[in-house]
Amino acid sequence: MVITLSVIKADVGGYVGHASMHPDLMDEGERHCASAKQEGLLIDYKVMRCGDDLELIMTHEQGVDNDHIHKMAWETFEDCADVARKLKLYGAGQDLIADAFSGNVRGMGPGLAEMEIEERPSEPVIVFMADKTSAGAWNQPLYKMFSDPFNTSGLVIAPGMHEGFSFEVQDVVDHKKITFNSPEEIYDLLMFIGAPSRYTVKAVYSRNTGQVAAVSSTERLSLIAGKYVGKDDPVCIVRCQGAFPAVGEVLEPFAMPQLVEGWMRGSHHGPLMPTCFAKCNPSRFDGPPRVIAAGFQLADGKLVGPLDMFDDPSFDMTREWANQIGEYLRRHGPFEPHRLSLHELEYTTMPAIMAKLQERWQSM
Ligand code: 13P
Ligand code: 13P
Ligand code: MG
Ligand code: MG
Repeated sequence: MVITLSVIKADVGGYVGHASMHPDLMDEGERHCASAKQEGLLIDYKVMRCGDDLELIMTHEQGVDNDHIHKMAWETFEDCADVARKLKLYGAGQDLIADAFSGNVRGMGPGLAEMEIEERPSEPVIVFMADKTSAGAWNQPLYKMFSDPFNTSGLVIAPGMHEGFSFEVQDVVDHKKITFNSPEEIYDLLMFIGAPSRYTVKAVYSRNTGQVAAVSSTERLSLIAGKYVGKDDPVCIVRCQGAFPAVGEVLEPFAMPQLVEGWMRGSHHGPLMPTCFAKCNPSRFDGPPRVIAAGFQLADGKLVGPLDMFDDPSFDMTREWANQIGEYLRRHGPFEPHRLSLHELEYTTMPAIMAKLQERWQSM
């Protein structure tokens, strides 16, 4: 059976501040998705949240970039934003940058990851969702999952993975894309994806079967809005087992709390902390950045799950480590490298301060 898995997300209003989500917003999301399922547009869905971001996880047979699916997601976000406005939640409608829907949510503010797949006899997938960080945060984990044998032993010992994977990389500034083959082009690949604020891994494919293995959201809110409105808080879908890395190999990169950009005001580096669903309420200095992992088995498009994959004491040390890194960085206060570099701050509120003081700078 060929099905499409679409994850479309937006920050439609935070509770309290940017920490979490009011249950009324999730109820409104649930209402829309339930009626779309009843009408036959969706096979199945799960309404989730990561910090203050509303996440619509949907299966259907309409293919990727389908205007009915995108319209349904956009209308859901708009009505959720109305609920947020009534409750005077923080940043109600924050990510809905376009004024009206025009056929596709791409470039309108929401983030999206979609894949059309032939469902395997058993189809385990993991949907990763992050808060307080940028598109590009998946570069390092995707590299480790699909290219690093120290992370994924299957690259060495599983015949189905031995041929490696190919990476579709986007230049989000110049709107160009390129594909690199791993393992033979990993040095070229790393040259680019090691700079995740500009180059993002959009998708990964198996070179053995040609099947799509992973898709991530690469929308950069600040580039769409032309100013800082909030962080991208991206999502990523990864297929597991068989010709793909095992579930444990897909989760393993998150045992290292990599430094990502985001955190307070989207203007700081901080460690990406994996948490269970319930503990994804970034509060200390609006963070530190979070990632949750929802595991599903697909059954004729039905989403069997989610299993809360980071609800496991084996990630306790990672969380402790992230807290230590976070504390160390916090002590730098407004200094780099806790604060983003000047170039990266150009996409935040810094240009307004620069403009205000422009006249007072004297030549010397
Ligand atoms: P598969 O090769 O069937 O995916 O099994 C590998 C495995 O489960 C290792 O944990
Ligand atoms: P969000 O992108 O999660 O809304 O966070 C914005 C922010 O500025 C937090 O300090
Ligand atoms: Mg917010
Ligand atoms: Mg958010």
